[in-house]
Amino acid sequence: MSDNSGLTLFLDGEEVGFTRGESIFQVSERHQKDIPTLCYDERLEAFGACRLCIVELEGARYPVASCTTKAEPGMRVTSKSGRLEMHRRVLLEMVVSENREVDVNELAGYASQEMTTLVDRYDARTGRFAGGKSGTSRADDPNPFILRDYEQCISCYRCVRVCAEQEGDYAISVMNRGFDTQITTEFGGLLVDSACTFCGQCIQTCPTGALADIKALRAKDVEEPVEKTRSICPYCGVGCAVDIMTKGDRIVGIQPAMDGPANEGALCVKGQFAFDFVHHPDRLKTPFVRNDHGQLVPASWDEALDKAAAGLLAAVNEHGRHSLYAVASGRAPNEAGFLMQKLVRAGLGTSYIDNCSRA
Ligand code: SF4
Ligand code: SF4
Ligand code: FES
Repeated sequence: MSDNSGLTLFLDGEEVGFTRGESIFQVSERHQKDIPTLCYDERLEAFGACRLCIVELEGARYPVASCTTKAEPGMRVTSKSGRLEMHRRVLLEMVVSENREVDVNELAGYASQEMTTLVDRYDARTGRFAGGKSGTSRADDPNPFILRDYEQCISCYRCVRVCAEQEGDYAISVMNRGFDTQITTEFGGLLVDSACTFCGQCIQTCPTGALADIKALRAKDVEEPVEKTRSICPYCGVGCAVDIMTKGDRIVGIQPAMDGPANEGALCVKGQFAFDFVHHPDRLKTPFVRNDHGQLVPASWDEALDKAAAGLLAAVNEHGRHSLYAVASGRAPNEAGFLMQKLVRAGLGTSYIDNCSRA
């Protein structure tokens, strides 16, 4: 019998089971309770910064943060009440009073709409606690990928935590406290001079658009709606799932798929930002073969494949099978890799084959 057998608590009056180590928030989410969060990212250690996820706990003097409070047997938890909703609204109004803008463009990042959505849900007054503000934007940071607009920052530290916990880079940190709080790199420098790998993780987890995707925002004034198409990153054999953002017939940005089995929301700099080649005017859209004068001219796939096959066979006939060496693409799926080695071994008679993923 498992250690977890028989562990139950009462959630809004209903007895529910839980696993040891789960937080009240995780148990509540599993039971479709709609508890608001801002500093929470399910991939990261709970942090307890925003307090929006408060719940009432019988016997506790004040509401507790459900994301950082572990479930215990026999607890009696209330996830929704008039008092809780009032507390959440005031907390949200305190958070949002710090922000210059509430309407954030959806191209800014995957989680960029979270604060805006909550403001709408609670009908929060955005200037109620207007006054001191924290965070100085780094408009002087010349990097081509990440907008560092810290006047939009709510000090949820999701960026710092994702950089450390998911990416292992520790490129950014928190400096000072209170209204002097500032997300910064070591010695307050530029991202290009830091340990940042420009993976974009901090952009995608930021709930306010304080960190935003500069490349995607280039299309913010394009009229068409943003559409997302699930696909697989073409760059290497890992197979990271991505959502390709388009406006009309143009790719405007990439967002990592948080439910991608191979990447769980992570991407590298290429998968995240290197998509401009798709619309580049020099992009090859048809095979080329050399004509009798040695010039490259456009050809059909049949012509190109016939020419390649004739050339390979000529090399084998003239110089022997070991004159050939094949390199399969690391971007190709397993099935294509299998066919490639079959072609080389069975078709051309050599075992000289490798793939570029080893480079
Ligand atoms: S882009 Fe990646 S490495 Fe750079 S600060 Fe953000 S999370 Fe860290
Ligand atoms: S920059 Fe964004 S993710 Fe980072 S602490 Fe500020 S609001 Fe949170
Ligand atoms: S989501 Fe729990 S404290 Fe922020």
